[in-house]
Amino acid sequence: MTESLSVRIRAMAHQQGAIILAHYYQPPEIQAVADYVGDSLQLAREARQAEAEVIVSCGVSFMAETAKILNPGKLVVNPAPEAGCPMADMVDAAGLKALRAQHPGAVVVSYVNTTAEVKAESDICCTSSNALQVINSIPQDTPIIFAPDRNLGANVAAWSGRSLILWDGCCPIHDRLTPEHIKAMQERYPEALVAVHPECRPEVVALADKTTSTAGILKYIDEMEAEFIIGTEQGLLNTAAVHSPHRRCYPAREDFICPDMKKITPQRLLLSLERLQPTVEIDEAVRQRAYQALDCMLQLP
Ligand code: 13P
Ligand code: SF4
Repeated sequence: MTESLSVRIRAMAHQQGAIILAHYYQPPEIQAVADYVGDSLQLAREARQAEAEVIVSCGVSFMAETAKILNPGKLVVNPAPEAGCPMADMVDAAGLKALRAQHPGAVVVSYVNTTAEVKAESDICCTSSNALQVINSIPQDTPIIFAPDRNLGANVAAWSGRSLILWDGCCPIHDRLTPEHIKAMQERYPEALVAVHPECRPEVVALADKTTSTAGILKYIDEMEAEFIIGTEQGLLNTAAVHSPHRRCYPAREDFICPDMKKITPQRLLLSLERLQPTVEIDEAVRQRAYQALDCMLQLP
């Protein structure tokens, strides 16, 4: 990105009274001009407390929707509305409703990687950094439906010692990582610690030294005096290089890339700021119900 483009983006954000929120998987040039960079939970909290009149969400659609659900009085702008999350598209509201009908009395926990309509059919949301805490907040004898990530669900079930009713979805990017990839990398870098995201399969998680959210992996890299094999989207390695330039990190797979997270370019971001479009709009009845599920999660200490 040219220096003048980043200067123009910052000047336009200032002129429009906009705050730019970006996920850790965003391209480095987007992270560089953001007011705040974080994981899904941190971005939800920042969006909720944002005082700026305009929130520009740089991530995928469910993140922009979450910002609008939590702070409906603000104009929420999504520079790449076509950037979805394939996992979020694996569950729909009607299907989740039908599953709930089969399990009367069950609590429905939805990963934040879902549409507003799915959140509206849920009792509580979770992210990768608080999924265990959310499950532990539900009374032991209450059945739990967990959607849509079967890998995160299975990992949290193992950590909590509870059996969960799992939706059969997954992140197509994280699900491609296999134990064979990890073992091959461990042979190459026998001293390296393995840090993976909980969207990875349980058999991959079983080989990891640390399984945590994107923010958790960055913290781990910073705290541990070591080199690392990283089992998550490659954008995080760029961020790690900025946060912890003294650490060596290797991607667990060379092609660990979420194409949807790369759809926002500096040019598109600038155009969105100039036009204050495309905006995120959500049906108010859906928004209010989705808000309940998100709020329930954000109320946890
Ligand atoms: P985090 O909540 O860890 O940022 O993860 C979001 C995501 O989409 C992972 O694929
Ligand atoms: Fe969705 Fe996976 Fe991309 Fe995260 S990495 S946004 S879960 S497709």
